[in-house]
Amino acid sequence: MATTESSTATATDLQDLARRHLWLHFSRMGGYDDQHEIPIITRGEGCYVWDDKGNKYFDGLSALFCVNIGHGRHEVAQAGADQAKELEFVTNWSYAHPQAITLAARIANLAPGDLNRVFFTSGGGEAVETAIKASRQFWKLSGKPNKTKIIAREVAYHGTTMGALSATGITDLRQPFEPLMPGGTHVPNTNLYRLPYQMRPEDLAETVKDKIEFEGPDTVAAVIMEPVQNAGGCFTPPDGYFQRVREICDEYDVLMISDEVICSWGRLGEFFGCQRLGYQPDIITTAKGITSAYAPMGAMIASDRVFEPFSQDHTSFLHGYTFAGHPIACAVAHANIDVFENDGLLDHVKATEPVFRDMMESLRDIPIVGDVRGMGFFQAVELVKDRETKASFDEEESEWLLRGFLSGELYRRGLICRADDRGDPVIQLAPPLITTAEQFGEIHDVLRPVLEEASRRLGLKA
Ligand SMILES: Cc1ncc(COP(=O)(O)O)c(C=O)c1O
Repeated sequence: MATTESSTATATDLQDLARRHLWLHFSRMGGYDDQHEIPIITRGEGCYVWDDKGNKYFDGLSALFCVNIGHGRHEVAQAGADQAKELEFVTNWSYAHPQAITLAARIANLAPGDLNRVFFTSGGGEAVETAIKASRQFWKLSGKPNKTKIIAREVAYHGTTMGALSATGITDLRQPFEPLMPGGTHVPNTNLYRLPYQMRPEDLAETVKDKIEFEGPDTVAAVIMEPVQNAGGCFTPPDGYFQRVREICDEYDVLMISDEVICSWGRLGEFFGCQRLGYQPDIITTAKGITSAYAPMGAMIASDRVFEPFSQDHTSFLHGYTFAGHPIACAVAHANIDVFENDGLLDHVKATEPVFRDMMESLRDIPIVGDVRGMGFFQAVELVKDRETKASFDEEESEWLLRGFLSGELYRRGLICRADDRGDPVIQLAPPLITTAEQFGEIHDVLRPVLEEASRRLGLKA
């Protein structure tokens, strides 16, 4: 470091140091100045976090869909500390340790059907990358070496590494890094509010069949989909969608990957999103809530069938990450799952989801609210200019609405949520799974006046 700042900076120094040295992800670093400070969060407890000035916020996004059990659970932190004293690290490259072994067994037990094999990673993108590589090598080992392509959905986010990015269906995120891994190809998502021209909900799964036919079944390795698609704003599937995708995958011998980096660990009211929606994938990718982010971790959970060719004598999956299956992260994951079980979090989500949904539905009278959608503790409102025509905002309006007004105003009033326009503009909420009925009232009391004010400023009529 060229300058002499120490890591024990005072609070007033932090803003300056952050602006000079920290490179924030997906952030316009040139946009920060004295009027637009970098938010610095210093403490968390339950559903709330506090910034460096002592301001309190409701964490309506569980710190990027992660902190499912809520902030400040000391017993989970303690589990990590205890493990660090016992054995701080040993790698999963050819070695095992008790925490990784017992956690893999515990996850296999919670996962549906024959998803019995757990490959740990350090996060979600790595889990997706791992699933893509496992799918490709699976087909090579199975005598179908040309099956390499991955079918994903438009506007879906699957991570930023080059393989995961080629599955990601967001043009703006892809273009700066092209050419990507060859073979990433996309079908429509399940945006039921804006279906493709002349398409009915029951036709959506058929687009997967058409795409496989178009690409050539012998070239397609896997389909990857989230149970409820995050990017675009909580797209839920129409009835029977995943069951039909499963049939199509079976018909064409294509693996089905359920990307549950967000939709597992109670987000939809079950340990895994596919359990809520009633389908059986060949692979689940997960991360975030697996430790409630008290330590970084992700995983690929593969079926017996997927693992089988890798279990033969001289074969290995030629893939790994030094820190994956880190003992501290594994101990934290165990403690996190203990909280789920001891505190009945899945039951709480199932019982309280209607309160959350009713609160979101109650916003429909506000002129800017075009659609309300989602599942479990994962809900969104889509913002429109005209509810009759569903007209959305142009780029300039969207820029003002999301970055110029909503994000700042919601934060100023004490609510962290996501104002996003990777598809059409939406506000998304994914609060900690401990959020109570009363606390959904608190969220409402911030959201309503801010959305009403946005409608007024845009001159929208009821
Ligand atoms: C569905 C999905 N897949 C993959 C990822 C990438 O996870 P990570 O940011 O941990 O690499 C994300 C991140 O939000 C995600 O939502």
